[in-house]
Order: sequence, then C-alpha cells, then structure tokens
Amino acid sequence: MQQLSHQPVAGTILVADDQASNRELLEELLTLQGFTVIAVQDGTSALEQLTRGHIDLVILDVMMPRLTGFEVCEKIKSNPQTYLLPVVLITALSNKEDRLKGIQSGADDFLSRPVDRSELLARVQSLMKLKLRTDELERAESVLFSLARSIEGKDPYTHGHCERLAESSIRLGEQLGLPEEQITALRRAGVVHDVGKIAVPDAILLKPNRLTEQEWKIVREHPIVGERICAPLKSFRLVLPIIRHHHEKFDGSGYPDGLRGEAIPVTARVLQLVDVFDALTTDRPYKSASSTAEALQIMREEVAKGWWDPHIFEQFERLVRSGEIGFQSRSAAAGGE
Ligand SMILES: [Fe+2]
Repeated sequence: MQQLSHQPVAGTILVADDQASNRELLEELLTLQGFTVIAVQDGTSALEQLTRGHIDLVILDVMMPRLTGFEVCEKIKSNPQTYLLPVVLITALSNKEDRLKGIQSGADDFLSRPVDRSELLARVQSLMKLKLRTDELERAESVLFSLARSIEGKDPYTHGHCERLAESSIRLGEQLGLPEEQITALRRAGVVHDVGKIAVPDAILLKPNRLTEQEWKIVREHPIVGERICAPLKSFRLVLPIIRHHHEKFDGSGYPDGLRGEAIPVTARVLQLVDVFDALTTDRPYKSASSTAEALQIMREEVAKGWWDPHIFEQFERLVRSGEIGFQSRSAAAGGE
C-alpha cells in the first residue's frame, strides 16, 4: 500500500488494482485533481484499508488476487458501516457479463478499460457529490443514534438493548421475507425507537416501583415524541411508523392510536415482539429476568389474549428456539438456559 498524495483534498479515493501500471495511471489522474489516493494491489488489502481510515470512494479492478472486485464490492455493500460508500468497478469495455455481475454486487458505476481521463473524472466528481450528501445524512443519523444510546445508557438494566433489538428485528424481518428497505428501517428503529423517552423525566424513567396513572400518561407519550424527533429525516420515512406504533396491540388495546391487527405496520409488529421478549428476559428493579422458556410462555399467553400477531409470534418463537435469535448470554445469566 502506498499513500501518494498529502495535499489538501476534495476527498480520499481507494484504488485497488493488481497491475502497477493501472494503479499508477489512476493515482496520477486523481491526485492531479486534488484527491488523496490510497492504492492497494488486491481485494483483501482494500477491505483492510476501509477499516483503517476515512475513504470517500472506492475504485476496484474486477480481476484481482485474494478477493475479486465483485467480492469486495459485495462486502462493502452488505456492511451497514460502509454500504453508502460509492464503488466504481473497472471492467473490460465490452464485457456485458461483468457489468451485470457488477450491478448484482451493488456497484454504483463502471469504468471501461482503457480508462478515459475525462470519463473517470466526470464519474468521480458526480459520485463525490453524492457522497457529500450521504455524509450529511449519516451525520444526522449518528446524532440521533447517539441521543438514543445516551437515553439507553441512563438505565443500567437496558444496557445493550438497542443493538440486540436491531439485530433480532432484522433476523425476524428477514424470516418473514420483508423487503430490504423495511429491514433497513428495522435496523434503524432498533436503535431509535425509544428516543422519545428523552421527554420522560429520569424520576419516572428510573422509578423502581409502580408508576402512577399520571406518570404512565407521560411514558405513553414517548412514541409520538420519538416520531416528531425523527420526522425531519427523509431517510427515516419507513422508521417513523415503527417508532409511533411499537406499543400498539393486535386487539387495539395499545397506544398511542389503538390500531388493530394488520392496521399496525408489520415492521412495528416485528419490533414490538422482540422488544417485549427482551424486556421479559432482562433483570428489572421490580422483577428478575425470565428464562427464555418462561418468556415465550408469557408471550404465548399474551398472544392468546389478543395482544400480539400470532403468525409473527410463531416465526419469532421458531427463531428463538433454534438459536437464530440469540439471547443466550443474557438468559444464561437469568435462567441457566
Ligand atoms: Fe418504547
């Protein structure tokens, strides 16, 4: 790996190509335009480089030792930390099959070899503009995520709750065959669904004994407050219904809107099951954690009462029993399972 430019930049571009002459050509063209270029000679090094520092754009040769350009692209696009990073694949001019494979791997754009200088610069500039916009979006998201985590951090009993919820909701959503944008919404909602608790005073949030009716009223506001906090973010369009409706019940007895059955968005029905299970299997000031089997039994009774979606619960139970949704470390502490 060589770092070729230290000038002030319009961005940092990672170039991966096993041919030294190809790397040098791209480095020369891009550094002349003020970009910082980091050049590596194979796919694995490209992925390692991504974990080391800030990269704005990746240009990958298709045929490389260790990991091919397609494989690297696929890994970048399937990782929540890097999926917004633009990837350009360099393919042979007329290789339609490579382009199709590139599209399937999630590539944002293609360059043909031999690389044309003006085409390279035009594509890089336009992807860089896109990257700037997504960076802004990511900053807004990360502010929200930090806020949500700081609220979670107030309560020692819910430690790690957001991450567990995000992971398990994604797994359940996938099991139900939900489309990718809803899975992404579940990932975000797992972290931010309780962000509205910012408006609940600590004296209520951390109260060890029963809440008064007045205190409950304040707690029940948190889905609406959370929705309002996240509403300005366009990318959270599919997250908002999950935040608002994660305390609805299938028979209409939940809050804030008393929605019934399938009127409750499916993503909210997914997240709430995972949320309830997590709460049951976590120690609380007023009760110790239930074991996995006890929690499933309680939830089964609640399904019978009409609270939760029976079909989704059935799938959830299957995933918990098969260990695909993992609460093992916590239930081991809680109930020896
Ligand atoms: Fe909540």
